[in-house]
Amino acid sequence: MQVQFCGLTLNGCVYNASGPRTGSSDALAKVGSSKSCAILTKSATLLPQNGNPLPRTYTSPNFSINSEGLPNKSIDYYIDSETIKESVLDSGKPYFVSISGKSLDDNVEMMKRICKAPGVAGIELNLACPNVIGHPIIAYDMVQLRSALKTVASLSLPLPIGIKLPPYFDFIHYQKAAEIINEYKSTISYIVTMNTVGNTLMISPHSGSPVISPKGGYGGLSGPAVKPIALAQVRKFSELLDPSIDIVGVGGVQSGQDVYDMILCGAKVVQVGTCHWIEGPKCFDRIVEEFEEICRKNGVKELEEIRGKLKEWSKKGAALDRQGRKSEPKTSAKGGAKFQSTLDDSSFLLLSVAVVVMIQVLLVLLAQALGHLDVPAVAQFMDNLKA
Ligand code: DHB
Repeated sequence: MQVQFCGLTLNGCVYNASGPRTGSSDALAKVGSSKSCAILTKSATLLPQNGNPLPRTYTSPNFSINSEGLPNKSIDYYIDSETIKESVLDSGKPYFVSISGKSLDDNVEMMKRICKAPGVAGIELNLACPNVIGHPIIAYDMVQLRSALKTVASLSLPLPIGIKLPPYFDFIHYQKAAEIINEYKSTISYIVTMNTVGNTLMISPHSGSPVISPKGGYGGLSGPAVKPIALAQVRKFSELLDPSIDIVGVGGVQSGQDVYDMILCGAKVVQVGTCHWIEGPKCFDRIVEEFEEICRKNGVKELEEIRGKLKEWSKKGAALDRQGRKSEPKTSAKGGAKFQSTLDDSSFLLLSVAVVVMIQVLLVLLAQALGHLDVPAVAQFMDNLKA
């Protein structure tokens, strides 16, 4: 299904998030050869960077934590015609460049350079990186957010500009951010929501210390666990933003159903980050195929039929949910545990005790039955047992 985005026609609605497997032309070319509908680079800085000390990433079935600290080959690499030629190959897919400068001046300089380079479809300005030591998350500071957008607006750039936002948790914060973004609706074509949940901590039970090394172990949370947070961002911003500003949904997407849910909440297109990291670029083929199958089953021919059409809670819907959950598998083959068991701890304990008692009763009955049989070997065995 085709999607109009940034004045472009995309052949699909799923592409890669900036971050994992997006740092080199080789990696980007692999995205280009998959069913991803566009190609997006790692967030670039003005100069090349090695990033934070290792280990700086941690993965588990339900979530990942990273604090890479923007390792990248510099803006000049990502806009070099040779890189673009190799990255985009013959895919003909739109090529977006993500930037995350150390300062507003750096971002301005990078934007100017991108606009001079042929072959770039748009710029994703990352205002949400949580992992640069000593640099707070820009878009949590409404003064900085406004000043960044004011500066970008003053440049009158010829390319579509999107901004990547951090997750918000209070409705008043969503409102303030949306108000500022709406003021610059003629400059900002789209928002990308959301970046990782910043500064989370995971401890190894084996070592008693954090699982990653930089920043005292604090890192950005991503993966399936953050999907409800991401859905809320997409839904809330679709209520608050001017309709001319598109929403790119990202966070915990690893299946066709996740893409469908993002679109129900109002996303125009959807990015995949952690799943791409773990599964590799073939995840785009699988996710797109799953999504197309769900659309076929639901008779959806155009994405506009479902975009933003999240249904309100109802008793009828809740009954359908209960019924549907009974037939759901407890785990999925891909991506580890997908559905939580509906048993709580105490029910599980009770069930375990009942099973053990039943097994014991069965064993006693079996022993008695065998004792009544007139088989010498069995009788001998039973005598031994009694002794
Ligand atoms: C990094 C992490 C992010 O969440 C981001 O948006 C950009 C860069 C990093 O640690 O490299």
